[in-house]
Amino acid sequence: MAKNVLTFEHVYFQYENMPILEDVNIEVREGEFVGIFGPNGGGKTTLLKLAMGFLTPQRGKISLLGSIGYVPQAMRFDKAFPISVLEVVMMGALNKLSWWGQYPRGVKDKAYASLERVGMKEKAKAPFGTLSGGEAQRVLIARAIVDGPQMLLLDEPTASVDIQAEQLIYNLLLELNQTMTILMVTHDLQTIIDKVGKLLCVHRRVTSLKAREVCEHFALGLYHTPLTSKEHFPFK
Ligand SMILES: Nc1ncnc2c1ncn2[C@@H]1O[C@H](COP(=O)(O)OP(=O)(O)OP(=O)(O)O)[C@@H](O)[C@H]1O
Ligand SMILES: [Mg+2]
Repeated sequence: MAKNVLTFEHVYFQYENMPILEDVNIEVREGEFVGIFGPNGGGKTTLLKLAMGFLTPQRGKISLLGSIGYVPQAMRFDKAFPISVLEVVMMGALNKLSWWGQYPRGVKDKAYASLERVGMKEKAKAPFGTLSGGEAQRVLIARAIVDGPQMLLLDEPTASVDIQAEQLIYNLLLELNQTMTILMVTHDLQTIIDKVGKLLCVHRRVTSLKAREVCEHFALGLYHTPLTSKEHFPFK
């Protein structure tokens, strides 16, 4: 069986005095495609930030194996900000920048290769602000994978794109999933349900479900059922 690449064990997290996540237990195995869903404010983005170590839990343990690429939620550059598509992707390798602000040779080639993977190479020289929403998302995915991470985290990558662009992004993710473990936050359960192997419902607590076990109510965005009840969700 594939090894665990991310585990949460009895994780509790709160901002100031506001509890957000409670007794969270998660196991993600190498090569999995995991969908993360739940109501607004349920703690999905917080969970990703904990996984990356941007936030530290007050209690519990998080273990992560390997490197991570991240596509944040609704990342929008100022349309007028003069930065090219290629530069956006190269920013994904910022930790490689020398103290005098030069990227080492090779980063540009990697950025082109990454853009090719997402089908955006022809737009490398275009100003980022001129891209459509779907194109911009694919470029942000290129940026997240420029260093060849083992795991890719995406926070609602299809939130503001049309159905066609959404299909392109999902197909791309399925392809990337051949070489990367993927965790993706989405509200669009109906579309991803046949693509992901596992779903995490985040609603203060986290319930792990197999895709086929997901209740129809969830797919309709109705999260009002007692999500934490063991009677309703006895599976793990
Ligand atoms: N830096 C912060 N300081 C204080 N509270 C925060 C902070 N970031 C998020 N929160 C609060 O924590 C809760 C969970 O936020 P989070 O962003 O994880 O939710 P989410 O599930 O990603 O929601 P959405 O579906 O709207 O993206 C929300 O009530 C939010 O207002
Ligand atoms: Mg969020």
